[in-house]
Amino acid sequence: MSSPAFDFTPLLAPGLPSAAMRWKGRVKFDFTGGNNDPDRLPLDGLIAAAESVLRREGRKLAIYGVDDGPQGYRRLREFLVGKLKADAGITCTADDIVLTSGSNHGLDLVNATFLTRGDTVVVEEDCYQSAINRFNRIGATTVGIPLDKDGMRMDALSNALDELKRKAIRAKYIYTIPTVQNPTATVLPVERRQQMLMLAQAHGVPIFEDDCYADLTWSGERPPAIFAMSERGGVIYVGSFSKTVAPALRVGYVVAPWDVMSRMLALKTDAGSGALEQMLLAEYCTRNFSKHVPELRRALRAKLETLMDSLREHFGAAVQFDNPKGGIFLWVALPEGVDTMKLYDSALAKGVAINPGQQWSVNKEHSRNRLRLCFASSSHEEIHEGIAALAEVCRREFGVSKRL
Ligand SMILES: Cc1ncc(COP(=O)(O)O)c(C=O)c1O
Repeated sequence: MSSPAFDFTPLLAPGLPSAAMRWKGRVKFDFTGGNNDPDRLPLDGLIAAAESVLRREGRKLAIYGVDDGPQGYRRLREFLVGKLKADAGITCTADDIVLTSGSNHGLDLVNATFLTRGDTVVVEEDCYQSAINRFNRIGATTVGIPLDKDGMRMDALSNALDELKRKAIRAKYIYTIPTVQNPTATVLPVERRQQMLMLAQAHGVPIFEDDCYADLTWSGERPPAIFAMSERGGVIYVGSFSKTVAPALRVGYVVAPWDVMSRMLALKTDAGSGALEQMLLAEYCTRNFSKHVPELRRALRAKLETLMDSLREHFGAAVQFDNPKGGIFLWVALPEGVDTMKLYDSALAKGVAINPGQQWSVNKEHSRNRLRLCFASSSHEEIHEGIAALAEVCRREFGVSKRL
């Protein structure tokens, strides 16, 4: 007689998030997630970089943190010092940077440093799902600020901060993705960055700037980082190699002053993030980053065109979207009354995966008929066929037909 399986359930810690689903593989037409273009992965360059860095410095892997301490492989931090100066206008040193296991790990470290249950965080109303989930999980209240074509609206931010002040609430930070925002792909102009800094300083609220898509503007130009524009500090900056090189490498970074950095390092108890990836990126990026990224941008831009053409062909005026200034996502509105949470299930049954808007927004009403489509990881043919299949589901099950 076989004995019953051990039951872990009564021993689980209280307050756990809902259980994860088992991975069943990606569907045929996958427009979800922040994946990149497999054809643009610089594989030969990465192979050559791995070989050269391992032959030269591989024995350092015998030491935790490759002998560069808890902030990670120094050559990668030094590459970032130059890159951040050249691209984002940020002046910092390698000692101001900690390398993390993806920028999500950076979000966790910053959140763990500042947030506790009951705290308030100001966010763009439509916002990165994983950031929203993190704030919810901690028990923080999110105050959503509406966006327009130029990103977060400063009149609304001003009102929200005044309202918080009236209630004697000091927000812990303004979490913002100002350069190619997720999901709206908006880019906050310089004047609004200045206004945000002024408002944040007037209210004694720091800014937490998430810049992981900033290298992917089509023009290759971007406004300076808010971090760079601040004359009085008060900004924490997080970036990533996921969107420019490869998400599966899991390398991100946080730039912060020492009074914050020293607190984050005390919380970073993983004995160092994966150093092989850091060494590989340092070796590859030092020689190739500035050549690789424009090629990636061109490929992504072409896929966006295919996506927008496919949407126009199959939906006509039944869908609305702005032409993004960069990135890997299109934020699309379907006609009022379509609930994209329901569309998610119906589309999945036909092999099309979308991100329903409500998961990417703190305003559930306004995002109900919206969806986010990632165009980076599918081929042009898959984008075309996938949108045709999505249009068919919308027509049959939601009565959305092509409008002229
Ligand atoms: C706005 C934003 N921040 C952070 C991340 C996390 O990226 P990673 O942990 O791969 O660096 C993502 C990923 O999609 C993102 O969209």
